[in-house]
Amino acid sequence: MNARVATNVKAGAEMLCGFVFTDTKTPPAFGIKDVDMSSMIKQSVSDMAGRSGRVAVIPTASKKPARRILLAGLGRSDDVTPDLVRHVSGEIAKKARELNLGEFFVLVPSKIPFSQSVFASAITEGAVMSMYRFNKFKSVDDDEDDAGVVPKDLGFAEGGDTSTSRRSEEDATEPNLAIVVDASDSKNDVVDAVKTAAAVADGNTFVRSVANLPPNECVPATLAEVAQDIAKKTTNLKCTVISKRDLKNKGFGGITAVGQGSKNEPKLIILEYKGGRRSGAINKQKPIVLVGKAVTFDTGGISLKPGEKMDEMKFDKCGGCTVLGILKTAAEMKLKANIVGIIPAVENMPGGESYRPGDIITLYSGKTAEILNTDAEGRLILADALAYGEQHYKPRAIIDFATLTGACIIALGNDVAGMVSNNLELADRMRESSERTAEAVWELPLNRDYMDMIKSSVADMRNLGIGRAAGTVTAAAFLRNAIDDTPWVHFDIAGVAWTQTATKSRSYKSKGATGFGVRLIMDYLLASSED
Ligand code: BES
Ligand code: MN
Ligand code: ZN
Repeated sequence: MNARVATNVKAGAEMLCGFVFTDTKTPPAFGIKDVDMSSMIKQSVSDMAGRSGRVAVIPTASKKPARRILLAGLGRSDDVTPDLVRHVSGEIAKKARELNLGEFFVLVPSKIPFSQSVFASAITEGAVMSMYRFNKFKSVDDDEDDAGVVPKDLGFAEGGDTSTSRRSEEDATEPNLAIVVDASDSKNDVVDAVKTAAAVADGNTFVRSVANLPPNECVPATLAEVAQDIAKKTTNLKCTVISKRDLKNKGFGGITAVGQGSKNEPKLIILEYKGGRRSGAINKQKPIVLVGKAVTFDTGGISLKPGEKMDEMKFDKCGGCTVLGILKTAAEMKLKANIVGIIPAVENMPGGESYRPGDIITLYSGKTAEILNTDAEGRLILADALAYGEQHYKPRAIIDFATLTGACIIALGNDVAGMVSNNLELADRMRESSERTAEAVWELPLNRDYMDMIKSSVADMRNLGIGRAAGTVTAAAFLRNAIDDTPWVHFDIAGVAWTQTATKSRSYKSKGATGFGVRLIMDYLLASSED
């Protein structure tokens, strides 16, 4: 979907959309002269009463100011949030697609409790994200939102060429968005905001397109290919992949142990983006390191998981996919920062070569870990990646994403990610970005007592806490041991990385992977690259 900013509605436009509020119930400023048309719209406005999420389409015989008018409810005007705008915008875009429109216009209302730029960003994100569909493996596109049945060529390349799965540019059924604002001084700000929002939303849907891939089509080597493909297509982005033998030789004991049970060999994927300010000819700005768990399938290994919902463990690569998406988006936007993405990618399988409960392994940090459950694998591969990131890059901050613990779903549900940090300022920054993006996070504590809960009698640490107590925090305690004193924040995205039973329904979320984290971290990176 293309998104643009316009100062007027083009003659003969296919659809003009405006917002209705429950408190004012006044028709949007469509500039309609025709008396009959005006009274029809008034009636529709009164019928829908501005209820949030409702949309009504009214054909106009006169074609003025457009062939169709769409009224969209936003609830009480004082209570409007950017996230509600995102949701309602997605409903509008889906309606536009259902009607097979080439372009639809959206009027920014004059009375909103935040800026035009924020409103236009939310419109853009909602519209772009709502268009995403995972239909790569369907021979007929039978999306329930879709009016017609569009036959589709089964065009996926062998070896899972995911770069072609981004349908947004090639999908002829996708309408384009034009956001209508006054020709005021702030128009340039709105244009910039919309451009950024579209890029970030594309980053989000890119993550979903990789994360939704089934585990037979996406193994660690596939993710490495995706990363290499991104690097090839973007300037200032370099990709390095460390393979099985080198991982072993270089001391990545966690990745090696977890990966050894699968014939799909482990990979450590590293993406380096250099967009930082230069002093003279060199760019020495300390990077921000992003680490993402990518278990392409988590059976639990020898500590095998029960069968129920095991298919969902294809989403155990979501953290890594988020990091891929952030690096891709930052590089495409030419963000002014140095960013490194580190993605330990493995498949956790049971077999004759698998690691076992009882094993003692040595991690990249040099610390030893007693394995008590091979299903607590995420912390082992992340510990290697975190230690490598700190030692190798001496970063300003390390941020990791991982579908780490079922306990996080019990604690926070399906709409809030768990956050654990060793640095109050960094955690505060994350809370600010979380507020702005509505990618919700909640911090859990990590003190000495929790660190003590992962002490082992035979090694430096054990990969389990005590029983099920504070499972999310004891997992984070294991990660905390991998780094020294770099500001670090960990996000447990087990509950939010894909839609689950209790996930709050949003038009811009599709069933499956959500791409959680791209909007959050892009907001943080954009805010901190300015200082
Ligand atoms: N990938 C899982 C965590 C998970 C489970 C995320 C269900 C989302 C839904 C992780 O590798 C895991 O298996 N964790 C165990 C840890 C336990 C053995 C300490 C868990 O949460 O049960
Ligand atoms: Mn597991
Ligand atoms: Zn896992």
